[in-house]
Amino acid sequence: PVLILLGPPGAGKGTQARLLEEKNGFVQLSTGDLLRAAVAAGTAAGREAKAVMEAGNLVSDDIVIAILRDRLAAPDCAHGVILDGFPRTTVQAEALDTLLAERGQKIDAAISLEVDDAAMVDRISGRFTCGGCGEGYHDSFKPTARPGICDTCGGTDMIRRADDNAETVAQRLAAYHAQTAPLIDYYQSKGALSRVPAMGPIDEIAAQLDTVLSQRA
Ligand code: AP5
Ligand code: ZN
Repeated sequence: PVLILLGPPGAGKGTQARLLEEKNGFVQLSTGDLLRAAVAAGTAAGREAKAVMEAGNLVSDDIVIAILRDRLAAPDCAHGVILDGFPRTTVQAEALDTLLAERGQKIDAAISLEVDDAAMVDRISGRFTCGGCGEGYHDSFKPTARPGICDTCGGTDMIRRADDNAETVAQRLAAYHAQTAPLIDYYQSKGALSRVPAMGPIDEIAAQLDTVLSQRA
């Protein structure tokens, strides 16, 4: 199946995509992760994206669509994908429809994680990720069992993102409302939308996503 996770920064898209990946063997496709990898590798796309991301704005549709298209064509995506952070504009949504049609696939569910903006700043400012295995954590909401040591892989290389400061978070939220929130209507009109309240604990939200999945995919 093809699942889309929609929601503002901090809504828990990455957290839930990882859980779905573990439980169902789907592949998490995060354009944010793919772009950060391009920045780290210093590719042409990465050099163009770096400053845009640090300012909290959206990277150009051309770059993002090209990156997503390449990744989607990889063999490991055949069993199922969870799109985390893509599409984020109407142009991207239309490009995705075309891309999937070419592959004989369609969107099974577009899940909107519904949260309060105010809480997102707290979620994002406490976030860190294990550089070894990619597991995500939070200072208050999801701490490691032993300080500084990853529960999953035992690694000690914990990373905080350059765009996770209060000022950039405000701009990321603004970009979400201006450019991405209209996609909720886009998928509603296609009959693909499921709204999931996402202010509760991580495992409760995961259980609701399992229900959506069993109904739609
Ligand atoms: P991206 O990497 O996609 O970031 P984002 O959308 O801002 O989303 P986040 O990763 O911040 O949040 P999330 O919803 O995944 O939350 P998480 O699970 O980590 O994009 C970054 C940038 O790349 C963009 O600004 C843009 O420049 C560019 N970009 C990416 N895609 C693009 C596209 N398609 N087009 C153009 N540009 C693009 O959770 C957050 C924290 O909260 C974690 O610490 C977690 O442990 C905790 N948490 C999660 N769930 C809960 C819960 N239920 N209760 C309490 N805490 C929780
Ligand atoms: Zn780890």
